[in-house]
Amino acid sequence: MSVFDNFTKRWLQPFFFLGKNSLSLIGGAITTAAAFVIVGFWMVDVLGHGGSANPYLGIITFLILPGFFIAGLIMIPIGIAIQRKKLLAVGQLPSIYPDIDFNEPMFRHALNFVVVATFINFVIVGIASYRGVAYMDTPGFCGAACHVPMQPQWVAYQHSPHSHVDCVECHVGSGAGNYFQAKMAGMKQLVGVTFDTYPRPILAPLSELRPARATCEACHAPRRFVGDRLLVKTSFADDDKNTMTKTILVLHLGGVDSLSRLSGIHGHHLNHFEYVATDDEDQTIIAVYEPGPNGSQTEYLSSDWKGPVKGVRRVMDCMDCHNQAAHAYQTAADAVNESMAIGTPSADLPFVHKQGLQLIQAKYSSQSEAATKIQAGLEDFYRTQYPTVWNTQHEQVEKAAQTLITIYKQNVFPAMKVTWGTYPNNIGHNNFPGCFRCHDGNHTSKDGKTITNDCAACHNLLAVDESNPKLLSEMGFQ
Ligand code: HEC
Ligand code: HEC
Ligand code: HEC
Ligand code: HEC
Ligand code: HEC
Repeated sequence: MSVFDNFTKRWLQPFFFLGKNSLSLIGGAITTAAAFVIVGFWMVDVLGHGGSANPYLGIITFLILPGFFIAGLIMIPIGIAIQRKKLLAVGQLPSIYPDIDFNEPMFRHALNFVVVATFINFVIVGIASYRGVAYMDTPGFCGAACHVPMQPQWVAYQHSPHSHVDCVECHVGSGAGNYFQAKMAGMKQLVGVTFDTYPRPILAPLSELRPARATCEACHAPRRFVGDRLLVKTSFADDDKNTMTKTILVLHLGGVDSLSRLSGIHGHHLNHFEYVATDDEDQTIIAVYEPGPNGSQTEYLSSDWKGPVKGVRRVMDCMDCHNQAAHAYQTAADAVNESMAIGTPSADLPFVHKQGLQLIQAKYSSQSEAATKIQAGLEDFYRTQYPTVWNTQHEQVEKAAQTLITIYKQNVFPAMKVTWGTYPNNIGHNNFPGCFRCHDGNHTSKDGKTITNDCAACHNLLAVDESNPKLLSEMGFQ
């Protein structure tokens, strides 16, 4: 028996005979249909026409369609196996399968089709799995596709200076091990999303992130000398004139100078400080370790903590201060002040600072309810309290309402129980503990040394809430 005959008798004939069952035929149809649609999408994609940024389209093209494709392929042998078992059970499985007549043109065409289709299927499965995996690494998939649970991080990401850095750059390590780990964690999260068991809000232990060495420091040189940096903050008061004041400070960022000395805020913390916190968000720090000469270490303990120090020691890096580098949330007051400083809500509208803050800080059950009520609230206020403003500055009122709604939507996500202040920002010390988690004047070593609380170690305050600091005009600020 020739090889070809052998192949025909042992494989092809049973395949065609047993393949004539509804499951295998439906499987074949699904696979073929999915293949056509997938290839169609790819062609649109490659030609670059009609491409859509809609993340759900990505899920369909890269994950669901290939899923159908493979499910169809799997149905074919399953159908064959079931058919075989069925026939075997009733004793109707032929010992010799019916001959295939190669002279019949109809059959030759069918055979050619199967061979060619199998080849093409291999190519499709290969490309589809590659592209599916690559797609799962894009911010579109991570952020937008997992819509509700990731919405706060996704929106806050888009307003950060890192909105063009892929999620996986910071959240997934390189190498197969990290990749696998991240995908397993992703699977767990997918199950959480499917069965609606994910936590609300999602909190962010820094220990689950890649170390800064592998992420931030891939782009930012940690030893760069920044020196002093001027910071000007504009605030508005709650009176009818929304009185504007300025706070000016010179931050001593420092760095590593040309003699390799560590100075200022950036420099000192390159010294591999370690700390122990009692919560996942690292807001309560009970012990800090500063390396000294010859491997010695100074231990600073919080006087608020009476128990023994237990817990994982974390080496301080960029993300302990810049925890919001990629997901920037604001406090209500900062957001309104910053926005008013660049023009809306207009400070010409009486009490707009006070009213605006009240409206965005009220409790709403959803973002859409907030949008309706913030707008109605502001309109009502001017219509009833300041009819002349309502008549003459109507457009400014509407603009103010829209800005307030935007601020709300960037920071509050009722569906995820994320509200003002849910995510602490560790830079500074006025809104959250921040630097004062350690620099509160309350972390002291056995020999009486305290982590500094000296204002001037970090910044010089040149003006605090002054209405018109002379300094600014002298320096040429407008
Ligand atoms: C530049 C680095 C960086 C990038 C890029 C980045 N993140 Fe993050 N992400 C962080 C840091 C740092 C935190 C921790 C914040 C904290 O502890 O306050 C975090 C926290 C989170 C959290 C909170 C829960 C957790 O897993 O710890 C989610 C969810 C998240 N990021 C999703 C995303 C998504 C989705 C993207 C892409 C759209 C993204 N991140 C891009 C750095 C990054
Ligand atoms: C892929 C490169 C890349 C990575 C990774 C990266 N950054 Fe950046 N970062 C940038 C760029 C580019 C800018 C400037 C953006 C701009 O000015 O619009 C920037 C800006 C910043 C700024 C200044 C923001 C401001 O308001 O002026 C800080 C702070 C910062 N990054 C911290 C971090 C931290 C912390 C990490 C790690 C969690 C990190 N970066 C990871 C590229 C990166
Ligand atoms: C002890 C806290 C702390 C640590 C640790 C820290 N930074 Fe900063 N960084 C600051 C503060 C404070 C500022 C200025 C205020 C601000 O950006 O709001 C700043 C500003 C910056 C800026 C903007 C500088 C500019 O030229 O205006 C960059 C970029 C930056 N940091 C990157 C990093 C990177 C990368 C690391 C890790 C190697 C790091 N930082 C570690 C506190 C820190
Ligand atoms: C995890 C604890 C911790 C946090 C959080 C922290 N620091 Fe520090 N910092 C230290 C330790 C420890 C030292 C060294 C002891 C000292 O100099 O008082 C230090 C030193 C400094 C110094 C040098 C002081 C000097 O001796 O001249 C500056 C400036 C500084 N930190 C600024 C900041 C700023 C700004 C922040 C917040 C953005 C911050 N630190 C957050 C632990 C911390
Ligand atoms: C460990 C460092 C550190 C110490 C000590 C410190 N500050 Fe600050 N402070 C900061 C940083 C960093 C910021 C800037 C935050 C930012 O970028 O928005 C800041 C901001 C401020 C602001 C402006 C706040 C705003 O958002 O309007 C004031 C006012 C201020 N500090 C007052 C003080 C006073 C008073 C002391 C002394 C009792 C002090 N700080 C001690 C680090 C420190």
